[in-house]
Amino acid sequence: MTAAEARERHAALSAEIVEADAAYHGEDAPIMSDAEYDRLRRALEDIEARFPELAGTGPASASVGAKPSDTFSKVRHVVPMLSLGNAFADEEVEEFVARVRRFLNWPADRALAFTAEPKIDGLSLSLRYEEGRLVTAATRGDGEVGENVTANAREIADIPATLTGDDVPPVCEVRGEVYLSHADFAAINARQEVAGKPLFANPRNAAAGSLRQLDPSITASRPLRFFAYAWGEVSPAFEGTQAGVIERFRRWGLPVNPRMAVCEDASAMLAQYRAIEEARPDLGYDIDGVVYKVDDLALQRRLGFVSRSPRWALAHKFPAQTATTVVEAIDIQVGRTGSLNPLARLRPVTVGGVVVSNATLHNEGYVQGVGGDGEPIREGRDIRFGDTVVVLRAGDVIPKVMDVDLDKRPADAKPYVFPDVCPACGSRAVREVNPRTGRLDAIRRCTGGLICPAQGVERLKHFVSRNAFDLEGFGQTYVELLFEAGLVRQPADLFALAFEPLKAEIVKRREALSAAKRAEGEPAPKKAKKKGDDEDKAIRNLLASLDARRTIPLNRFLFALGIRHIGESTAKALAKRFSDMPALREAVAAAALQQPGPDWLALSAVPRVGPTTRDRLIAAFSLWHPHPEAAGAPPQDEVEDGKSDEEQRPGGGRLGLRLSAPQRENLLAHYGSEEEIEAAIARAAAQRPGEGYHFLADDGEIGPVATESLIDFFGEPHNAAAVDALLEAVTVEPMESAAAAAAFAGKTLVFTGTLEKMTRNEAKATAERLGAKVSGSVSAKTDLVVAGPGAGSKLKDAERLKVRVVSEDEWLALVADA
Ligand code: IVH
Repeated sequence: MTAAEARERHAALSAEIVEADAAYHGEDAPIMSDAEYDRLRRALEDIEARFPELAGTGPASASVGAKPSDTFSKVRHVVPMLSLGNAFADEEVEEFVARVRRFLNWPADRALAFTAEPKIDGLSLSLRYEEGRLVTAATRGDGEVGENVTANAREIADIPATLTGDDVPPVCEVRGEVYLSHADFAAINARQEVAGKPLFANPRNAAAGSLRQLDPSITASRPLRFFAYAWGEVSPAFEGTQAGVIERFRRWGLPVNPRMAVCEDASAMLAQYRAIEEARPDLGYDIDGVVYKVDDLALQRRLGFVSRSPRWALAHKFPAQTATTVVEAIDIQVGRTGSLNPLARLRPVTVGGVVVSNATLHNEGYVQGVGGDGEPIREGRDIRFGDTVVVLRAGDVIPKVMDVDLDKRPADAKPYVFPDVCPACGSRAVREVNPRTGRLDAIRRCTGGLICPAQGVERLKHFVSRNAFDLEGFGQTYVELLFEAGLVRQPADLFALAFEPLKAEIVKRREALSAAKRAEGEPAPKKAKKKGDDEDKAIRNLLASLDARRTIPLNRFLFALGIRHIGESTAKALAKRFSDMPALREAVAAAALQQPGPDWLALSAVPRVGPTTRDRLIAAFSLWHPHPEAAGAPPQDEVEDGKSDEEQRPGGGRLGLRLSAPQRENLLAHYGSEEEIEAAIARAAAQRPGEGYHFLADDGEIGPVATESLIDFFGEPHNAAAVDALLEAVTVEPMESAAAAAAFAGKTLVFTGTLEKMTRNEAKATAERLGAKVSGSVSAKTDLVVAGPGAGSKLKDAERLKVRVVSEDEWLALVADA
């Protein structure tokens, strides 16, 4: 069976199962025997085992809870539910501790405690208690909006309906993990088997399936458990330590993990990790690592967050699990951005309790045994059809092929030839040279752009996906159907869909499917007179979900466009800076006009040179040439003071400036001679990007890579046209964000002079957490200047422009109130 056939069969089976389910449960009127139903279920599971990318995609899929998620109401998390940064090696834990100390400017001899506790492999749940009574329970969802599962949570014995104690805050959101014990998981699967229902792949899936049930009595019949380990909105806020709060949780009647310990340093944390790893087989429930948290809550607050994870916590994962199997084929899947992604089809094998039959091979070099830097991977062993390989699975991520056993390689195995044309559209597939690194891109990409159907379909799937437009009901199957039928080729087409043509396609598809089945010798499906009605209802639901999305926040809109390097957090960063699309596009157009030239990029691509040294070289060069290119010449005070002209020259004797020996050698090796280096610096200086480019590229959350990607995207007329067409159909509104409501939202702050209580980084992070933008120079647009001792010209500017100036202590007081 090919992947396309599998998809068709999967969709057809799903439809039959959904129909049978509806008849059985909804109408108490089964349309088939249990044995027949069983056969359908097994056929579906079979396909999902062989084509895991289909698992979880259909309405009847075994790996999704029994009901689709859109049946729960939504809950917005006042405090987002975040994820954790990951570490695998001991050194990464040491680096984490060092990073926290650096950020806080915490001397090595000053005590800094961390908690260490098991990382439960379940699903997270937020329980809101008001006046001690449970009022809402919500799943994590996308971290900002979750599903309301209150009725189900009330059925979980571990979750108290009221918190008891005289120190329970009036508002308290308790967060923790719902999980199943190994014994209860086995019992549930045994019952499923007897009832002829599909088995759950692991305890976490079973817990998720049990919690996300529309019928709370099903949740009640599954012995879910809960551990509390964190919190969201709490008023008045907790004070003291992490361990102290967990102890209060315990007193209030919440279950907490008994294996939490407070550790004084990295080696104690690692010792606790080993102890938990050793206890793991006997715990009776799944854990996948150890979570470390800074114990002092005041320090947690100071540390804050980067993107979606707290700076004050780390998940130290247990090593991934591996197994050995055989490569039966290597397929190429074309991604949304045209990437040719090699995928190994494997003889199915169980890795850590899960059947694996696909594994990623990353890219062409990975198959051949060559890394991006030209260094060998797996000591240069390539991967071929028929090879015996080691597959590795870590958590939820798609498994990868780690190693090859050359002793078991069949004598006739040939090296895999990576295609240089796109398997979907036949266009050339190329590896571009990255101008920043001067190296070949690891990924080969289809050049077909809009004509490539695989890219088109993938872009649309991304567009409708949950964190993008979240178009309920448009699963993979519908997107493909509509694309193939030519009804939807670009996002705007979705919004032009009408009932009749949609219905015609769906009917056509159904008839084609049953004809195919008859041809295969299967009996004609039983006449279901309600089929037409159900289809009408499904179509009306699709159209309603489109209507519900005709207004969309800017960050989702941007993310949905599927622009390379514009993930969710970059989309949010952009939406924070721009209130609407015209403003954003204007900024991108300005950046496009003032992009850097190739020599500017190339200079920082010299090994060990990098952007900082490049800018220093250019600054020194401009100083020592009295008439530099006027545009964008650096202001004098950016060049380090107190050095004579001679000292500031780049290079060795004649070329001054603090270049390290390797930097000087690399520059010489790259450019040939000192004269050539100077000439290259001169060219780079002339090709410096202008303000418009810096405006985007220097924003720490956007950066040069995303900036260039935006320039490329909007520079393509067909992309601009597709966005225009879409904007005709939908209204984009500013991002709804907690930050927008925050105290310093939209304000511009400048820090100058020496800060004594915190590092610059911390000050900047705090300001940004409160919605402010931190700038390096004072202008009439500056709202506040925080000045420490030694402040100079910026303080004078502030006084001259009558900008409010506060001391570091005053600033800390303002922040504490915010
Ligand atoms: S703390 C802001 N502690 O791991 C930090 N998370 O990979 C909140 N998890 O989404 C999380 N055990 O679902 C924390 N002891 C533990 C945990 C834990 C499991 C989950 C949690 C989170 C995920 C992040």
